[in-house]
Amino acid sequence: MTALQTGDRLVSVEPDVIDWLKMPRPMIIDGEQVGSDRSLDVEDPATGRRIGSVALAGPELVQRAVAAARATFDDGGWRWMSSAARSRLILAAASLIDRHTEELAQLDALDGGVPIEYGRASIAEAVLTLEYAAGITARITGQTVAPANHRGDLFQAQVIREPLGVVAQIVPWNLPFGMAVEKVALGLATANTMVLKPAEQTPLSALRLGELLLEAGIPPGVVNVVSGFGAETGDALVRDPRVNKVSFTGSTVTGKAIVVAASANLTPVSLELGGKSPFIVLGDADLDEAASAAAENIFTLSGQACTAPSRMFVQHQAHDEFVERLSAAAGRVVVGSPLDPRTTAGPLVSEVQRRRVARYVDGALEDGATLACGGAPGEGAGYYYAPTVLTDTTPRMTINREEVFGPVVTVTPFDTVDEVIALANDTSYGLAAGVWTNDLAASQRLVRELQAGSVWVNTYNLFDPALPFGGYKQSGWGRETGMAAVELYTQTKTVAAATTERTSP
Ligand code: NAI
Ligand code: MG
Repeated sequence: MTALQTGDRLVSVEPDVIDWLKMPRPMIIDGEQVGSDRSLDVEDPATGRRIGSVALAGPELVQRAVAAARATFDDGGWRWMSSAARSRLILAAASLIDRHTEELAQLDALDGGVPIEYGRASIAEAVLTLEYAAGITARITGQTVAPANHRGDLFQAQVIREPLGVVAQIVPWNLPFGMAVEKVALGLATANTMVLKPAEQTPLSALRLGELLLEAGIPPGVVNVVSGFGAETGDALVRDPRVNKVSFTGSTVTGKAIVVAASANLTPVSLELGGKSPFIVLGDADLDEAASAAAENIFTLSGQACTAPSRMFVQHQAHDEFVERLSAAAGRVVVGSPLDPRTTAGPLVSEVQRRRVARYVDGALEDGATLACGGAPGEGAGYYYAPTVLTDTTPRMTINREEVFGPVVTVTPFDTVDEVIALANDTSYGLAAGVWTNDLAASQRLVRELQAGSVWVNTYNLFDPALPFGGYKQSGWGRETGMAAVELYTQTKTVAAATTERTSP
């Protein structure tokens, strides 16, 4: 790990951001900024210092936000707005966010430790996601269906696609603004109203998003933002009977708790959960490319990514060289201040998270793993942890079974394609997988056999708003991007109308 001499090249925090952080940030409910008598401290994980605070929503404020979303939906102005008008508003939001890129990237750097360059790119992607959402508003349509058992001249049948109503959107801390926009964009495109809850570790950019959406002209009450802890604020939101859908991204454990809570009202839930994604390198692959992509994708965001390729499998003859190259690449990761443009890995989000990561690595070493590099927390302030490569692990070890959410990867040799299929699928997760080879037949076989919602071949983490994303097995329910997601944010109404008076079937 290359440690930075911080201070010399730090981006200076914009005066607007400094001013904005001076007062406790209110929630956004029904187009108003709403304070609370309780507040939540906001911490910078790069220094461990408090940088501000946000209003904390207890159950009453959550109920007020849901009531606003409910009334705004029921009122009809938003859901009956022409798709062209809705599309224009979403485009206005996209371009306003684009103009605030630097400010938003700085908020995620300060609040969540997202490296500034990575953050800027994620805001640009959020803008593209909104532009895609603006483009699909007119394509959300129903169908005219010819009934199978009824005379087509006597009945006219239609399937209308309608929004669900109020959607509760709960997001995690690893890429705060990008996660929030992914959910909100879909809700806007499908004419639902929303209550968004950011993670308690990173509430700032979602609250700013709520402000910017209003400034762009999205009507009051369409997107409400409440901040607070999961067990209180999040739980109150999930249990509210006026919520028509819950859309959650986060850990599998919390996903299961949300399903239980939502089931009291049979509220439908979609889940984007964790992963233990395999990254498979066949002997013929370009090892340079594979190793640098491996390093980039496991150490990005310090491993705090749902698709982090945390289990690497390398064909025998290439294994040792791959480990060498991966360790060398780990050494070139620039760990430092998120506000330094040279930084490629910032701190973990909290001391709790760093302790969790350290526990997993220490446990793996006790279980008999070998450390190829890393394995230690950073020195000084901030919740840093060194990029870590482990070898000599077995599939039964905890390190290969549970999501670490840190800059930690295991590398395991294999002989045959059959063997690696079994190894890769030996997990309760199924979010993503990577395959590196030029052998067409082998790659086709792997693509078909891998149990994962996304399989990337000779690339990794290729996301696109038009492509469905989601998990197999315990990595989730449903798909949250692409037209597949539109189905989860809408419901159909079947209409059969007699074409002549008093026709009975
Ligand atoms: P979490 O899944 O508990 O938190 C994510 C969001 O859910 C936050 O907004 C939180 O406030 C909310 N939440 C928590 N409990 C809730 C409840 N009972 N009802 C409604 N909302 C609730 O994740 P946490 O505890 O912050 O991180 C723990 C571990 O989870 C990490 O070490 C990592 O392994 C995993 N994780 C995975 C993520 C992924 O995208 N795969 C994202 C975040 C965490
Ligand atoms: Mg924070």
